[in-house]
Amino acid sequence: MAKQIKIHLLVCGGTGCRVSQSEAIKAELERELIANELENEAKVVTTGCFGFCEKGPIVKVHPDNTFYVKVKPQDAAEIVREHVIKGRKVERLLYTNPEKKEQVADSKHTGFYRKQIRIALRNCGFIDPENIDEYLARNGYEALGKVLSQMTPEEVIKEIKDSGLRGRGGGGFPTGLKWEITRKSIADQKYVVCNADEGDPGAFMDRSILEGDPHAVIEAMAICGYAIGATRGLIYIRAEYPLAIHRLKIAIDQARSYGLLGNNIFESDFDFDIELRYGAGAFVCGEETALIHSMEGHRGEPTFKPPFPSVEGYKGKPTNVNNVETFANIPIIINKGAKWFSSIGTEKAKGTKVFALAGKINNVGLIEVPMGTTLREVIFEIGGGIKDGKKFKAVQTGGPSGGCLTEKHLDTPIEYDTLIEAGSMMGSGGMIVMDEDDCMVSVAKFYLDFTVEESCGKCSPCRIGNKRLYEMLDSITKGEGTMETLDKLRNLSHVIKETSLCGLGQTAPNPVLSTLDNFWDEYVEHVVNKKCPAGVCKSLMRYVVIPENCVGCTACARNCPVHCISGERKQVHEIDQSVCIKCGACYEKCKFNAIAIV
Ligand SMILES: Cc1cc2nc3c(=O)[nH]c(=O)nc-3n(C[C@H](O)[C@H](O)[C@H](O)COP(=O)(O)O)c2cc1C
Ligand code: SF4
Ligand code: SF4
Ligand code: SF4
Ligand code: FES
Repeated sequence: MAKQIKIHLLVCGGTGCRVSQSEAIKAELERELIANELENEAKVVTTGCFGFCEKGPIVKVHPDNTFYVKVKPQDAAEIVREHVIKGRKVERLLYTNPEKKEQVADSKHTGFYRKQIRIALRNCGFIDPENIDEYLARNGYEALGKVLSQMTPEEVIKEIKDSGLRGRGGGGFPTGLKWEITRKSIADQKYVVCNADEGDPGAFMDRSILEGDPHAVIEAMAICGYAIGATRGLIYIRAEYPLAIHRLKIAIDQARSYGLLGNNIFESDFDFDIELRYGAGAFVCGEETALIHSMEGHRGEPTFKPPFPSVEGYKGKPTNVNNVETFANIPIIINKGAKWFSSIGTEKAKGTKVFALAGKINNVGLIEVPMGTTLREVIFEIGGGIKDGKKFKAVQTGGPSGGCLTEKHLDTPIEYDTLIEAGSMMGSGGMIVMDEDDCMVSVAKFYLDFTVEESCGKCSPCRIGNKRLYEMLDSITKGEGTMETLDKLRNLSHVIKETSLCGLGQTAPNPVLSTLDNFWDEYVEHVVNKKCPAGVCKSLMRYVVIPENCVGCTACARNCPVHCISGERKQVHEIDQSVCIKCGACYEKCKFNAIAIV
């Protein structure tokens, strides 16, 4: 009798771990299992992202949930010899809790995972996304079977409405209501569109879901098709996501071959199939009307709403556009019920939200937390606090449309409305943490630079106004701004918000307004005292020699790329400010603390 597989070695196959050789780790583990004649007892499985990308590549051992971090291909032999054969954990590869300095074997007990609830990410890191059987083994396609055999489309829509699910793509529109509007739009053909454009800088939530659990989205789109009366689905995905595209193609083919896409699904009279459409990576193409134009072969430019896509969308037909994460929640809501889902989260925001946690934080990665979790919990408990013991300064949520929140907002529960009240927004889930070394004027400039670059140019408030905002911010960082510039910044920001055609322009000034509100003193320092407190704006910095400390070792002069430091050996040196390019080499090379930045 064939032996049963007792141990699964789950190797992260997310993009982050793949670039750190996780494929080679998998190959080595398989080689070691074969060399030890264990291939019938243990199996290596490539999964999607585990979330804790900071510690990747990650290998998880099931059933005991042992979590090995920063694994290298050469560790494979020891994992097989010690863990698989002798049942002993490889201590040196376990995660070490930074506060208690103790090793944690089970991922559930790490600060990173303790407060997380994984609903949209429920299968990421557990199944092989390229094997439909693994999805089926975790109740995959049960929800589709249930709606087709036991529920009317109206009942499906009611369940989604009752769950309280709101769109995760940024706007937070109630999903069930959108489905209802699309259902009520009468047409011979309707479409279900999955928005997988994900253009926010630093965001990788949707990519990770598609790479780790593509069938969840496919199943959800079919459920949506049944609910609204559509037979065709389209996934608009940026071409820069090759792994997600690869896995989606495999998943669609497998679903077709199992009769889960195509005609008469589950022997019902429901037909549904999905095609992929590729975006070229323009941020504005994530906006639903621009996305639809792009799919139609036109320029990816937004158009005025109404009409909303639910009434008049792709090829003029009613089109239900939802985000990847929104869809990923659907099958489990159908399986576990609206009551279960709505018991998680807060009064106004149900369920969980996935965030791509990045910036000056110890635990960079992908997290999923119940709505209502505070920013403090996310940054200091899940994120493990600020890197290198530095001081927290701000957290940016909502990407280029969002804002920068400060210390005083740390106890704000994460919800659509509370974040807007605080001057930012939920957005699609980018969360970038900043420390004392970040200049908030430069941060606002970074986002404006992005939106100016990504503006489609169709309307002048956004095309011209944002450029002017950028120029003003640039002048402030160069020491050319005045208090009047700050007034103009604020006034123009409001005009752009009120008069732009689409969400890109309407939200582009948010990083400016939120930093003006929350970091006013820092702006004033730049324009009045011509100083950058964080020491980032080069034009406002001067490197000077502190005569009392200088011993005349000449190290600075020898390393200055523009030879602007003069002085004899054992004599105090001097910097010619008119030539200095502020590269910082002298500051780094001086061992006597004799160079200061003023
Ligand atoms: C400039 C801009 C970019 C957007 N990018 C995305 C995106 O990448 N992904 C997304 O799902 N929604 C994006 N949206 C929101 C979509 O227009 C739309 O509201 C969303 O896809 C609807 O899905 P949901 O209700 O499930 O959130 C963007 C909106 C704007 C204004
Ligand atoms: S607001 Fe900006 S991105 Fe939107 S239509 Fe106008 S120019 Fe284009
Ligand atoms: S490296 Fe420091 S101590 Fe040496 S000459 Fe330069 S400023 Fe003086
Ligand atoms: S900052 Fe660079 S350019 Fe300026 S004095 Fe120091 S080494 Fe020379
Ligand atoms: S990519 Fe491997 S843990 Fe995220």
